[in-house]
Order: sequence, then structure tokens, then C-alpha cells
Amino acid sequence: MSESLAVNNLNVSILSNKDAASNSLNQTIDMAPPFQIQVAPHIEALQPYKPGRPPTELMQELGIDRLVNLASNENSFAPPLTVQQAIADATMNLNRYPDAGGLLLKTKLADMYDLKPENVCLGAGSESILGSIIRAFLHEDEEILTSQGTFIGLYVLVSAKGAKLNTVPLNDYSFDLDAILKAVNARTKIIYLCNPNNPSGTIFTRDQFEKFIAKVPQNILVIVDEAYHEFAESTPDFPSTVGYKLPNVLTLRTFSKAYAMAGIRVGYGFGHENVISYINRVKLPFEPNILAQAAGLAALDDTVFPEITQENNRQGIQYLTSAFSDLGLKFVPSHANFILIEMGSEAAAQDLTEKLLYKGIAIRHLKAFGLETCVRVTIGIPEENTKLVDALKMILAV
Ligand SMILES: Cc1ncc(COP(=O)(O)O)c(C=O)c1O
Repeated sequence: MSESLAVNNLNVSILSNKDAASNSLNQTIDMAPPFQIQVAPHIEALQPYKPGRPPTELMQELGIDRLVNLASNENSFAPPLTVQQAIADATMNLNRYPDAGGLLLKTKLADMYDLKPENVCLGAGSESILGSIIRAFLHEDEEILTSQGTFIGLYVLVSAKGAKLNTVPLNDYSFDLDAILKAVNARTKIIYLCNPNNPSGTIFTRDQFEKFIAKVPQNILVIVDEAYHEFAESTPDFPSTVGYKLPNVLTLRTFSKAYAMAGIRVGYGFGHENVISYINRVKLPFEPNILAQAAGLAALDDTVFPEITQENNRQGIQYLTSAFSDLGLKFVPSHANFILIEMGSEAAAQDLTEKLLYKGIAIRHLKAFGLETCVRVTIGIPEENTKLVDALKMILAV
């Protein structure tokens, strides 16, 4: 489940009851004989996706003309103009299948890190690559080991596979690499790390990573999800893991965040050529699509846009954390484009999320992440951040 789908779920749970009967997707069809096709128990146990209201309908219901979406860690800027132009140009070729190997984009990414195209994989978002990794590497009875309170998309992909997830608690909202090492057992096949971590925004340092990776058995694949790395690269001890070139480490990255391209779906990964080759055997052949590949190529030529995004993020974090402190809110210092706020109780977290939504601001209650007392707000552009602070002042003053 993507983050925005989860937000839609929230909208539905708050707003959809009275209209449920009119939602054609909620209607079932009476058929005889009865439906008899069965699925595996782990698929049966998955929660079906509840479609949310389109933003326009939601805004009508709330009586607002604009919804400020700070719930999904998206970039509030429109994508670079060069990317928009590249997509427009590539529409001329939509009658053709994309280059299944994505060679131009792989080569460009490989050149940036002195690697070969064989060390690069592509997908329709990094979440799709994560799905391919799970399909390719996890045998029956093998486990994936990670932390509680990390990227929800991983938990969903693992459940969909029916695989066993082994988790250790976060330590002060951070990945506890020592606890992860202690939890390694004979069934551990994959370790998933997220740096900076979504949803807490914390990082583990270069020193912590190096000590950790030296002790991980070589037959375990370590995924380092660096979806938000652009926001942390200026932190001196942030371990940019592509540089290590280790055979059992796969680094995942995306154009969705710093490049503002979440809607086109293009992500990438760097790793040993054998790891990449196994991923390529199970991935859908023609992802990313032809527009996404063109967009990725254009984005890499644009060095200014990510810098503008990073500067907006730095200023946004400064402004919001100072306002949160003034309001007496407890938050976790962030190295990403979002901030986790500890509300003290599930009721307070839920209440704040709902009250902000009714003021036209969507944030994320982190119950589904296992952090039921917390919410997460994405850093927006200045006018969005100001709107959030003004709304918080009104809500918390009551
Ligand atoms: C940690 C993390 N990894 C991966 C993703 C998915 O990124 P993509 O849009 O490339 O699938 C997200 C999206 O929010 C994320 O937070």
C-alpha cells in the first residue's frame, strides 16, 4: 500500500459512511451459483484497499477550495520543467514498448557512482523493486528482519508474500542495529534498513553502519532504503551506502521525493550484478514505462531542482520545529522531508489528525506503522507550513 492510499483510507474512515451506499465500488453483485474460488490464507488475511474520495469531492464536503496534503512525504513543488518537457516529448513514442533494459537511464545512474549498468536496477518506484526483491530472494520459511516503526510498504509487501517478518523495536525512534544483529537467526535471508527512517526521520551513522555490516553474515541480503537520502547527504556522518560496493548490500533510491516525481513511478537500486540479475528475472519487463524513463533521464541533468527542494526543506524544518517547540509539541529531529510528532496518546494523535483534516490539512496518524501515539507531517512549501502552524495554534489553544 502506498502512503497516499493509506491517506485515502483515513479520509474514507472519517467521511464516507453516509455516502457508502452510493459508492459503486462498495456495491456487490448478486450472482448464482455462489463464488467458490479460494485464495491462500495470507491473501485472505490482507485488508482490502478501501478507495478514498477524490480530493475534489473531499474538498467539497469540507467546504474548502484547497487541501494541503502533508500526509505522504511528497514534494510540494511541481516537477522540474525539463522533466515535464521530456515527458511531453516522449509521448510521441507511446505507440512503442519501453526499452526493457532501461539502458540509457541505468548507464547514466551507473556513471554517477563509477559503476556498470549491470549494477543498477530500475522499477516503477522503489517500492516495486522492493516487491521484486522479496519475490526473488525469500524462499519458504526464510525471514525478513527489520525494525518496528519503519516503512509501511515493506510490511504490506511481506504480508502479501505470506513471508515471516521478524522485527525489533526502535530505540529512541532510531533503528537499533545492535538489536537487529542479535535477532539474526538461521532463517534470516533479508535485512531491511531505512536511512533516513520513514516515519521517524532519524539516521544511523557511517560508523554504526560499518560496525553493523562487518558482523552481518555474507549470505544475508541487506537492503538499505535511501528514499530520502538527498535530505540527509549534508549531514557529515550520513552513510551513503552506494559507495561501499558490498556484494550483499542493495541500496534503493527514488525520483519520487527530492525530484518531485512520485506520480510517474520511477525508482532505482544499486548492488552486486548477481543481485541485480535475480531482481531482473522477476520484475515486470517493461517497467519503468517509457515516460518514466525519459523523466528520470531529464531529472538527472537537473542539479538545481534538488538543491531548491533541499533548501526549502531545511528552512521548513527550522520554521516548523521552532513553532512546534513554542506550542509545547514533542517531536523527533528529522533528516528527511517530514517530522514525527509524539502526541502522548492514540486519542490525541487521532484527534489532531481529524481536526487538521477539517481545516483542510492532511497529516498522517502513524497507527498503521505501529506508532499509534504519533503523527507525521511532511515539510511543505512556506505557505503550507504557515497554514499548518496557524491551524495547530487554533487547535491546541482550545
Ligand atoms: C522509505 C520509503 N521507501 C520507499 C518509498 C516508495 O518510493 P517510490 O515512490 O519510489 O515507490 C517510500 C514512499 O513513501 C518510502 O517512504
